[in-house]
Amino acid sequence: MRSIKIGVLGLGNVGAGVLRILREHAQTLEQRVSARIEVKRVLVRDLSSRREIETPEGLLTTDASAVLQDPEIAVIVELIGGTTAAKEMVEQALSAGKHVVTANKALLAEHGEELFQRAQEVGCELLFEGAVAGGIPVLRAIRHGLASDRVQRICGIVNGTSNYVLDKMTREGLGYAEAVSKAQAAGYAEADPSLDVGGVDAAHKLALLALLSFGKRVALDSIFVEGIESVRDYDLAVAKDLGYVVRSLAIASREAEDALRLRVHPVLLPRDHVLAGVHGAYNAVLVESEALGRSMYYGQGAGMMPTGVAVTSDIMDVARTILAHRAGETIKEDDASQVSPLASVVGSPMDSLEHANYVCVHVAHVSGVLGRVATILGAHGVSIAKMRQDHPEGASHARLVIVTEVVSEAAMAAAIAEIERGDDCVEPTVRIRFMESED
Ligand SMILES: NC(=O)c1ccc[n+]([C@@H]2O[C@H](COP(=O)([O-])OP(=O)(O)OC[C@H]3O[C@@H](n4cnc5c(N)ncnc54)[C@H](OP(=O)(O)O)[C@@H]3O)[C@@H](O)[C@H]2O)c1
Repeated sequence: MRSIKIGVLGLGNVGAGVLRILREHAQTLEQRVSARIEVKRVLVRDLSSRREIETPEGLLTTDASAVLQDPEIAVIVELIGGTTAAKEMVEQALSAGKHVVTANKALLAEHGEELFQRAQEVGCELLFEGAVAGGIPVLRAIRHGLASDRVQRICGIVNGTSNYVLDKMTREGLGYAEAVSKAQAAGYAEADPSLDVGGVDAAHKLALLALLSFGKRVALDSIFVEGIESVRDYDLAVAKDLGYVVRSLAIASREAEDALRLRVHPVLLPRDHVLAGVHGAYNAVLVESEALGRSMYYGQGAGMMPTGVAVTSDIMDVARTILAHRAGETIKEDDASQVSPLASVVGSPMDSLEHANYVCVHVAHVSGVLGRVATILGAHGVSIAKMRQDHPEGASHARLVIVTEVVSEAAMAAAIAEIERGDDCVEPTVRIRFMESED
């Protein structure tokens, strides 16, 4: 039996999942690849750390060069995370002519340009299915299943932590802080959850989805990002009354041949929208393509075994490529690292978008405040579709909830800024966009 030797960088959550799948599904993998995939060395930071999986004597090392410089190792699987050491090690692996599999979205979102280019120069693959939506094979679906179609729009729930928090707040009436604590206790959120709830993690994944869907690298700083931190249980309860649920969505759309708009923000979805039914830490990606129309990919977006499956399937793909190459075939040219050249674009700004909005203004109990808010909205051309005022018992202030008609981003932002300049405004205003009407 032929054998392909791999080196794994990192034996945390995902690393342990990969080793378990390689061990427990070894026979299936051997049959499907027609070769044995052998883990030769595994790099860790601390040999004495407790592991989720037992490893044979001598497998673990703290010496990166023992993995990266081993001539027998053909594939490096980067699972240490972060963007500094991981970048150096991926560069070293590629320079040594080794193929790379990674689940590191931050690394690719920030340094993808140079890493994909390097992979191309040295004729190696750089695969990353585990980096987006964990175990859901959405990148494979776009790369292979939709290869003959033209993707127009992607709209997804790609951060399980944010979805878990919003879902707990909606279904159990929890406050934001309590829902985040539950997510941490359940292992869905990091001790510092800011990358997740702030939307940055979703933006990284969206950039990778756009790369494969549109063949363009979008500058990260041109992605509009708004987290879920300011959404309160009150807003979700009102949304529920109105027949909506709030989800944090990552949306990429083709505005014109060379113009893409990428954004991550909370959205009010009608209760019967297909993404409104995505609960807990699950992920779902809705793809709209010219010929197929809508298709949806749903499943567990993170975790040891789901992400382990995605990474191991990438390892199998690379193994097949290596075997084909050894057999004298040319390396296939359908992976991101092989799609050349990829243009970089700056994402279109939000200004030209139009939405209806939910706005909750927190105001002091003073006379005339309702009139002031309504006058400001009118002055900015924001029409009011619905309005309601609550005076929660014991609260020192009132909540004005306004549902606007469809209005431009610029007008809505200017109106809120002016409302918030008033002395009667006691807390930050919450504004959530409704999903555009064509959705
Ligand atoms: N967890 C998920 O569900 C998930 C889902 C999708 C993608 N990902 C991505 O997968 C990657 C790995 O995530 P994870 O959750 O498995 O991380 P993790 O549990 O923190 O594990 C990281 C591993 O890397 C090792 N490591 C870190 N820095 C190192 C360094 N400089 N040199 C040597 N070893 C180092 C650590 O060694 P020690 O154990 O000795 O400290 C640890 O074994 C990340 O890029 C993450 O974004 C994770």
